[in-house]
Amino acid sequence: MNAPFDFDEATVCRLDTQRKAVEPCTIVIFGASGDLTARKLIPALYHLFKDNQLPPAFRIIGFARREKTDASFRAELREALGNFSRTKPVDDAVWAKFAENIGYCMGDLTDATAYQKLEQRLTSYGQPELRNNLLFYLAISPSQFGDAVENLHNTGLLKHPGHGGWQRIVVEKPFGHDLASAHALNGELTRYAHESQVFRIDHYLGKETVQNILMFRFSNSIFERLWNRDMVDHIQITVSEKQSVGGRGGYYEEAGAIRDMLQNHMLQVLALVSMEPPVSLEAESIRDEKVKVLKSIRPLSVEDVARQVVRGQYFAGVVDGQSQVGYRQEAKVKPDSNVETYVAAKLFIDNWRWSGVPFYLRTGKCLPLGASEVRIQFRPTPNVLFAAACGTKLDANSLTLRLQPNEGITLRINGKVPGTQVGVRPVRMHFSYDTEFGAYTPEAYERLLLEAVAGDATLFIRRDEVETAWQIVDSIRAGWEGKPLTNREFYAAGTWGPIAAEELLAQRGHVWRDPQPLK
Ligand code: BG6
Repeated sequence: MNAPFDFDEATVCRLDTQRKAVEPCTIVIFGASGDLTARKLIPALYHLFKDNQLPPAFRIIGFARREKTDASFRAELREALGNFSRTKPVDDAVWAKFAENIGYCMGDLTDATAYQKLEQRLTSYGQPELRNNLLFYLAISPSQFGDAVENLHNTGLLKHPGHGGWQRIVVEKPFGHDLASAHALNGELTRYAHESQVFRIDHYLGKETVQNILMFRFSNSIFERLWNRDMVDHIQITVSEKQSVGGRGGYYEEAGAIRDMLQNHMLQVLALVSMEPPVSLEAESIRDEKVKVLKSIRPLSVEDVARQVVRGQYFAGVVDGQSQVGYRQEAKVKPDSNVETYVAAKLFIDNWRWSGVPFYLRTGKCLPLGASEVRIQFRPTPNVLFAAACGTKLDANSLTLRLQPNEGITLRINGKVPGTQVGVRPVRMHFSYDTEFGAYTPEAYERLLLEAVAGDATLFIRRDEVETAWQIVDSIRAGWEGKPLTNREFYAAGTWGPIAAEELLAQRGHVWRDPQPLK
């Protein structure tokens, strides 16, 4: 076992040496009074600054309706950083230097003069790059995207590529609530911006371990050969959360687990696990392959949904020793709500590589453990020798990519139990990020903001990816339409989900492999 950081630097193949240096720019955050700015964006930018990763010259402007001065905005952010920074205590000397670059612009998103004020502010910096290289972060409701983009265009702040500097728009989910609304939203965004200027965030793609899926698959010769229907029996993707919907009942009533998690994070992980090798490491090549595989997911009819998809909703229970109210008792939730807090699906990818291999996806709130992992379950050995003698007790091999927490990769194999008796049992070979590289957990937003400033779209979702994912989700929702939850779809908070989810796997003699707690 290596001590942290004692790997030989000479063995590292650096892939980012060709990368352009990040150019001076201004980051304009619309909706800067909101939670996201204080909790995620400013802490991420502060750390990038601390690590010397931001451009040599930059400005950050918060744009929102509330009355604030530069000084009061900075003071607010400093206080929030104290709570949300991933490194503590905050380095006040670094903060002071960083904060000099932060300003506030008061304005209404629908008011054209507010954008002129913004334009004047940018021009006042006296440096063309700070005026023309602009990253617009839309931390606002999607219903306001159209206004923002149109006003930016009219003020000459958002230009088509090649017309001076660069301008990019960063948006967060939800990207619509179904295919039609996503299509309309994408239409609004691209009315004045080119698709290449739109950076759609899925924060799962900013996670180290999610990025590692492609490296793992395409830089190791032994595993990729096994990555197909000949060797893989089935694949399980679990994203389990201990937390309840808490204060987000209002949002959740509209979203449910399928829109909140499956449409985006889970289908993204599925795409990375199952896509074909891209022709290059360019963003478009990678995204082409992701879209191709998402398009190969077998469409689900209403009857298929009944057979292949399970919803669940938690009722009162105990999570981690704490009592938890049921979903229907949460604030801003209808007492007879049928919204799912859990979803499990069996999907098939109809392509050459994966034909006939079930992909089981599940996610839920108030489960016993917060953990995300992908488990590749390999086919069993032929039914002779040990398999003939042990039957189902002889476990088939599996490979688990643990995305969080306790990030790592585990290969499960069978080994002889030492001693004079003859016994075989599963043993694990484990690679742990922490042990190998030392504890290093940059926030997903750090990576994503840096990539957006650098103009690399690899970790962002393209329009056709979003729309294809909605097609899948819409077909599932159509199968649920007008059908209330049944008894087999409720689960006690603190358990692994409804009984119907167990039955979903039992149809093929499979069982869910629950993530294991940290040792
Ligand atoms: C968000 C969802 O996108 O992802 C939340 O809206 C969920 O409901 C969160 O809790 C999970 O993210 P992570 O990084 O904690 O796994």
